[in-house]
Amino acid sequence: MPDIFEVMARRRSVRRYSGEEVDERDLNLILEAACSAPSAGNLQAYEIVVVRDRRRRMELARASLNQMFMAQAPVHLVFLAYPSRSAAIYGRRGARLYSLQDATIAATFAMLAAHALGYGTCWVGAFHDEEVLRIVGAPDDRIPVAIITVGRPEGSILTTSRLKMESFVFEEEHGRPFRHRAMMKGLIRPGC
Ligand SMILES: Cc1cc2nc3c(=O)[nH]c(=O)nc-3n(C[C@H](O)[C@H](O)[C@H](O)COP(=O)(O)O)c2cc1C
Repeated sequence: MPDIFEVMARRRSVRRYSGEEVDERDLNLILEAACSAPSAGNLQAYEIVVVRDRRRRMELARASLNQMFMAQAPVHLVFLAYPSRSAAIYGRRGARLYSLQDATIAATFAMLAAHALGYGTCWVGAFHDEEVLRIVGAPDDRIPVAIITVGRPEGSILTTSRLKMESFVFEEEHGRPFRHRAMMKGLIRPGC
């Protein structure tokens, strides 16, 4: 198993998938990783819908502004924020911020776990919320935060660059660049 720095550095969005299924054990590991994520007050104000049905994946791809590459991925993980669960303790801040953060962190953990297991993923955020809720049969007070597509990658994966760290990581005060020494050279992409 690669270490976490290698997983983070080598992860790229994957938009082409082989037809291979996601192993059941791996899927369980990915979901356990998601559930191990921190959450505000440990309330886990999110839900995950695992979608494997081909027709439903097609529908999700259409609801995501026709991003049809999604349908190739054998598994879609739909992360839903559950605002009222967080609001019960944290009020408006729980509903408007923490539940979205809880869902986002869980999706991130799932994504990294999937890459550690040799799968490719893509974080999809462009979709019609109401359509996604309808397709997965979720109550309309939930907020779809991300659909993570999971599958074995096919073909070459596009590399991406990042902004130079000095332009957005600061030391003590906003605007004073953090003096960064590249520690992940050879692993991480140019820019950072
Ligand atoms: C909030 C969010 C929304 C995104 N939405 C989409 C999307 O709808 N479709 C897509 O193909 N990629 C989407 N992405 C993936 C980004 O395009 C991708 O992460 C970015 O270009 C950097 O590329 P990399 O992931 O290969 O490093 C999204 C990523 C994030 C974090």
